[in-house]
Amino acid sequence: MRQAGRYLPEYRALREKHDFLTSCRTPELACEITLQPVRRLGVDAAILFSDILVPLPGMGIDVEFTPGPRLERTIRSAGDVATLRVSDPHESTPYVLDAIRLLRRELAPAVPLIGFAGAPFTMATYLVEGHGTKQFAEIKRLLFTDSDTAHALLSKCAETVGRYLAAQVEAGAQAAMLFDTWASLLAPSDYREFALPYVSRVFADVKRVATTLGLDVPRIYYAGTAGWLDACRATDATVIGLDWRIDLDRARAGLGDQLAVQGNLDPTVLLGSTDGITSRAADVLRRAGPTGHIFNLGHGILPDTPPDHARCLVDAVAELSSKRTA
Ligand code: CP3
Repeated sequence: MRQAGRYLPEYRALREKHDFLTSCRTPELACEITLQPVRRLGVDAAILFSDILVPLPGMGIDVEFTPGPRLERTIRSAGDVATLRVSDPHESTPYVLDAIRLLRRELAPAVPLIGFAGAPFTMATYLVEGHGTKQFAEIKRLLFTDSDTAHALLSKCAETVGRYLAAQVEAGAQAAMLFDTWASLLAPSDYREFALPYVSRVFADVKRVATTLGLDVPRIYYAGTAGWLDACRATDATVIGLDWRIDLDRARAGLGDQLAVQGNLDPTVLLGSTDGITSRAADVLRRAGPTGHIFNLGHGILPDTPPDHARCLVDAVAELSSKRTA
């Protein structure tokens, strides 16, 4: 999940000088911000500093962050969908690809770089709602009253996101992660119709490009927690990212043994005591079992997290997992 951000004083210092989108659009700044948590926390992997909504201007929709996202206009009809472009990442987001190339030079070879994008359903949710929401009435209204338009929109999102994530792999990202934060609001049958096929399409693009390059790139799908978790087996992901609302042993029982899991500590645990952090981390590791688990928070780190507590977690996980394999 997000490991850079406002909880780090060095991030806040840069953000005093540059706004969020400028930081995403300037390869040197995106590179520096990506490296901040790697330096301070000693994590095993870096996640590119960017945002899932960065490709939207290339599709024809401006976006601002205040700090939550606000879109210049919404997409709610067939006519609106027709105005959307399928963007070419080399033209619309060259700075993301430059940041990846720069990072591959700056990161130690043992620290892999995770590239990411928003999954088509989550992108479509922002396009239809225009901002964050708790009701999701507009996206659901579109799904349930005009499913042809919904599918047309999801197709354009899938094509744009597929090209975008595949281009990140081409530029040097060593894992490709799709965030489907809002798909958990769907009933299982709606998930199978409106989200799953488009996730598979994006991962097919990633797989094709990786195979051409002779690379085996992990495909991580962040699903949060949902009633349709077993359906994730059909997404062509190799890793499923989970939040904290499901125990990893139970999640695995539904996912089968072919998929690795990622997550699933509640980020709010980092606001509590360091003893509590260590014991919660141990519980996640115990439930995850000895292999096929990437330890991670179940969602983005909260802005008031003490950086020392994040470091304590990384150290505890390193120690606990070295004991486990010893
Ligand atoms: O650690 C990293 O560097 C990863 C970078 C990253 C960001 N956003 C940076 C960011 C990643 C992986 C994301 C993903 C993202 N963005 C998702 C999917 C994951 C999730 O959180 O469920 C979603 C839904 C978004 C959309 C988005 N962007 C929201 C809802 C917000 C507001 C969040 C907030 O904390 O206020 C953003 C802004 C954003 N994206 C920030 C960061 C660091 C905060 C911007 C700032 O004020 O500096």
